[in-house]
Amino acid sequence: MGSTVTVIGTGYVGLVTGVCLAHSGHDVTCVDIDPAKVERLSGGTSTIYEPGIEELLAEGLERGNLRFRTPEAGWASLISDITFVAVGTPMAANGAADLTAVRTVTEQLAAAADRPFTLVMKSTVPPGTGEALQERYLASAKATIGYVSNPEFLREGKAIEDWYATDRIVLGSSSSADLARMRALYADIEAPVLETDVASAETIKYASNAFLSTKISFINEMANICDAVGADIDSVARGIGMDKRIGPDFLRAGIGYGGSCFPKDTRALDFISTINGYQFTLLKAVIDVNNRQRLLPMVHLARALPDLHARRIAVLGLSFKPDTDDVRESPALDIVPLLIEEGAEVVVYDPIAAEVELAEVERADAVWDALEGASAAIVATEWREFIELDWSRAASVMAADAVVFDGRNCLDPAAVRGAGLRYMAVGRDGAHRR
Ligand code: UGA
Repeated sequence: MGSTVTVIGTGYVGLVTGVCLAHSGHDVTCVDIDPAKVERLSGGTSTIYEPGIEELLAEGLERGNLRFRTPEAGWASLISDITFVAVGTPMAANGAADLTAVRTVTEQLAAAADRPFTLVMKSTVPPGTGEALQERYLASAKATIGYVSNPEFLREGKAIEDWYATDRIVLGSSSSADLARMRALYADIEAPVLETDVASAETIKYASNAFLSTKISFINEMANICDAVGADIDSVARGIGMDKRIGPDFLRAGIGYGGSCFPKDTRALDFISTINGYQFTLLKAVIDVNNRQRLLPMVHLARALPDLHARRIAVLGLSFKPDTDDVRESPALDIVPLLIEEGAEVVVYDPIAAEVELAEVERADAVWDALEGASAAIVATEWREFIELDWSRAASVMAADAVVFDGRNCLDPAAVRGAGLRYMAVGRDGAHRR
């Protein structure tokens, strides 16, 4: 028999959690303070772009085991045996995680609790938060509230797939009854379960994202070395990735990591280290390298085109990675203002991410419109449409002697060059010379 679950927050993590748990047969109520979101989701339209989500949303609504509510219904009636907190923890100005929403929701749940339940923290919160929340709010509640830290490891664009094919489930709690309840909830997912204490579970989340960010900054530094010594980063990444101890993933060089997680979580971990009196030197370098890497298109374009003034430059891809409309911390959004500052006429195109405010920028509805007359194209996101682009057709509409800067090392250099375009990428210099 399925469990009764409430998921608070229908952002990226909450919505995926809600629809997947409903798909697994649990009875799920998703809660959000935004009535417009609740209405849209209740009507079967997803508020995020994520492959497979609309199908699961439709399935849950049709079966009747998935519903969306605002807190107006009253927290007491919304609390379930298992109540997830999946509200946002955005980056505050000082780099710390802003826990306002997490605290508010926990306080409200504690005040409304009239029977025991398990509070499951899915929001990414700094180590120590769980303990503080328990002391500050849960300990004085009228009913016993068990606390479980259950960090999420979903990737945007592959979230549904990742939910069921996760490498591990991490559960942090001091209560064996709450841990057993969570194991039962996830019984249909074939993955190892790591049971630990709350602070360790919280730390695993930050350590995972910091380690993956480190891999990316490492390979980006190696790519810059490859450019300097005439080696090819694709071969180098393949060569080191064949060592099982290193592994082949997260070794794609490019213009750096973005998104709602890596930039935020690395900064937050750096902040946590600092306030605990520790200088996390390696992590600081990872962040620095990533900030510098995002400027790479400017460095390369300056070499290829002596003056950007009044030149039309196409930025292809706005989302921080393909298969998502998420533009948070996307490198493309850093590049655009720099190009404008140089006097370039910037045109942007993204297959999905359309709702982005960009001043002084032309928006193209098709890639060909973006490339028309352009002196350069910067591929900022590895959308399939760009990987499979007909570069001969591109060359025929772009300006003479145009440059393609492949910021994601995703194009076939021979196809671009063969079309008569100049090709530049990140650490693929050795490949140029072959
Ligand atoms: C990341 C983690 O992969 C998830 O495990 C985690 O749950 C999530 O953050 C989170 O904390 O919520 P996500 O941000 O969706 O997921 O995206 P990734 O696929 O990990 O990519 C992050 C960034 O790194 C992207 O900008 C991507 O282009 C870049 N990247 C990734 C590289 O530059 N090189 C690589 O080899 C891999």
